[in-house]
Amino acid sequence: MIAVMFLLIFSSLASNSEPCHVVDKEALLEFKSRIISDPSKLLDSWTPSSDCCHHWEGIACGSNGRVISLTRNGVVFDVDGIPLETYMSGTLSPYLGNLSSLQGLDLSNLKQLHGPIPPELAKLSHLRILFLYSNKFSGGVPASFEKLSRLQSLYLDNNQLFGNVPFSVFASFKSLSELGLSGNNLSGGIPSSIGSMAFLTRLDLHQNNFHGNIPSSIGNLVNLKKLDFSYNQISGRIPESIGRLSQLIFLDLMHNSFSGNLPFSMGDLSSLKFCSLSANKLVGVLPYSIGKLRNVQRLILENNKLSGKLPSTIGHLTSLTDLFLANNEFSGKIPPSFGNLINLQTLDLSRNQLSGLLPPQLAKLQSLQTLDLSFNPLGLVKVPKWISKLRVFQLKLAKTGIKGQLPKWLSCSSVSTLDLSSNALTGNLPWWIGNMTRLSFLNLSNNEFHSSIPLAFKNLSSLMDLDLHSNKLTGSMTVVFEKEVQFSLGHFNSVDLSNNKFCGPIDENIGEKASMSSIISLALSHNPLGGSIPKSIGKLRELEILDLEDSELSGNIPEELGDAETLTKINLSKNKLSGNIPEKVLNLKKLEEFDVSRNQLRGRIPPHKAMFPISAFVGNRGLCGPPLPPCKLSYR
Ligand SMILES: *[C@@H]1O[C@H](CO)[C@@H](O)[C@H](O)[C@H]1NC(C)=O
Ligand SMILES: *[C@@H]1O[C@H](CO)[C@@H](O)[C@H](O)[C@H]1NC(C)=O
Ligand SMILES: *[C@@H]1O[C@H](CO)[C@@H](O)[C@H](O)[C@H]1NC(C)=O
Ligand SMILES: *[C@@H]1O[C@H](CO)[C@@H](O)[C@H](O)[C@H]1NC(C)=O
Ligand SMILES: *[C@@H]1O[C@H](CO)[C@@H](O)[C@H](O)[C@H]1NC(C)=O
Ligand SMILES: *[C@@H]1O[C@H](CO)[C@@H](O)[C@H](O)[C@H]1NC(C)=O
Repeated sequence: MIAVMFLLIFSSLASNSEPCHVVDKEALLEFKSRIISDPSKLLDSWTPSSDCCHHWEGIACGSNGRVISLTRNGVVFDVDGIPLETYMSGTLSPYLGNLSSLQGLDLSNLKQLHGPIPPELAKLSHLRILFLYSNKFSGGVPASFEKLSRLQSLYLDNNQLFGNVPFSVFASFKSLSELGLSGNNLSGGIPSSIGSMAFLTRLDLHQNNFHGNIPSSIGNLVNLKKLDFSYNQISGRIPESIGRLSQLIFLDLMHNSFSGNLPFSMGDLSSLKFCSLSANKLVGVLPYSIGKLRNVQRLILENNKLSGKLPSTIGHLTSLTDLFLANNEFSGKIPPSFGNLINLQTLDLSRNQLSGLLPPQLAKLQSLQTLDLSFNPLGLVKVPKWISKLRVFQLKLAKTGIKGQLPKWLSCSSVSTLDLSSNALTGNLPWWIGNMTRLSFLNLSNNEFHSSIPLAFKNLSSLMDLDLHSNKLTGSMTVVFEKEVQFSLGHFNSVDLSNNKFCGPIDENIGEKASMSSIISLALSHNPLGGSIPKSIGKLRELEILDLEDSELSGNIPEELGDAETLTKINLSKNKLSGNIPEKVLNLKKLEEFDVSRNQLRGRIPPHKAMFPISAFVGNRGLCGPPLPPCKLSYR
């Protein structure tokens, strides 16, 4: 989009007076000569016999025949005007520095331009716009760029640039409004000269290796609207001066090493709409001044070490749509003022130390779609009834002290993700669970359900992840595998039925069931299953993890298991399996973990490439050969 605007600015200036200046033509032809591949013929019109101002695509000139803009980027439009991606490969000619009237240079998104950015570009003293993003340029940002004092937009993102950005470069960009250096491998500190770029509105340094502190001169960038330092290694405190950025709309500092408290001045960022400080080492309380961020829509502070009570001033943030405070050390009660967050769609307070009663005011959160209060010592006892009045799609209340039966109102709820794991739910897995046809994720693991799986379970045609491990469920598992699917929905990713009292045998045709066609992880271990391992498991062509340990299985390990080529982990430990270990299974290409210990297997362990420890084979009296002791003669 930036590129399109850029074209509009310059195309109107292209005039038909003077012919192309000889120096400029030479420079452009020299540029073309270093392009070794141009599949979309972006430079085909650039011929020595034609006039570069009037006949060359992507070139615009001033009235004196000097080139003022060069625009060849990696998006072309087909005959129907549909944009298509293309590329151009080669290196950048230093002759481009001879285009002495050039104001705009856009060679962005050509994917395959490589080599260094020529320092000669710094001779372009009229340059206002320089777009070289999304290529493979390497080396550093040339120190000579300090001469580009008229530059307004500089985008070098998504290249392979490395090294420090010379201090003098930042200091000299007095007119710069937009600076993008993201997605490179630039390192070193952020110099305090950054504060000299008084006109800066966008500063994007994300995904590099910058370290050190944010200099307090950042507070001078009072026109800044977007600041993105995420995914670097920046440390120290977030400077108090950040509060001066009253125009700032977007602030992303996530995945760095910031420490210390959040500055109280945060509250002065009155334009802020997006704020992510997640995955840092921030400590201390959330300053109550946070309640002044009246425009903030997404506030993401998860994965830090923030502590203390949640300030009730958060209730003033009525623009808030998403609040992520998970995985901190917040304690005390959830303030009743949270009920004022009428636009809130996501409330994630999971993995904290929150306790006490939930304020009934939360029932006012009519926009809420995702509620995650998991892993807090809330002592809820029951799934709060007010949730049934909302249209919540994701409900996660793992380990919140819920007891008793599954509440029946769930049967007519809109919930598609339900996690009530690690509670003390008991009684039957009710028949009406079959009415929850929107369910795609169900985690009821670590509870005390003790019944069989009701037949109506088959109606869960959207279900893709099922975790019922560590309950006291009985009867047959077959109803799970025979569950309905929809056209492309409802095929399992993962099924965990381990640590229950299910009876077998495992359905012989398990590998042919529609629900199982793309399963990745299957855990049936620690059940009194009996029977043998079905050959059809070999037909599960996306299966990576197979856990069948401690399940009273007998018979052979079927050779067909070796057809499931994506398997990375197989655990068959502690069964009554007999016969040999099939060579094909042991040599599965991606196999990383394998355990057949404590069975009744016999014979030589087949030669295999992967390294499995002795513990993977112990407890089989008849098994021999590396890594176990050598076989006796009779096995040769
Ligand atoms: C054009 O650029 C090249 C490479 O920087 C340089 O050697 C040459 O002298 C320049 N020509 C003119 C006319 O400036
Ligand atoms: C990035 O630079 C660091 C040194 O600053 C180097 O160790 C690392 O390998 C580089 N990474 C890539 C992907 O080039
Ligand atoms: C479950 O669905 C059936 C059929 O759609 C309906 O008759 C029944 O009332 C529902 N039961 C509950 C508990 O919602
Ligand atoms: C279910 O919840 C438990 C914790 O209560 C967790 O360990 C497990 O990974 C969850 N299952 C899935 C499939 O996410
Ligand atoms: C399950 O679906 C069948 C047919 O779609 C329907 O007759 C039955 O009532 C459903 N059962 C429940 C418990 O919703
Ligand atoms: C296989 O399962 C057993 C029993 O649960 C466990 O002790 C063992 O560590 C598992 N093996 C591997 C390789 O994970």
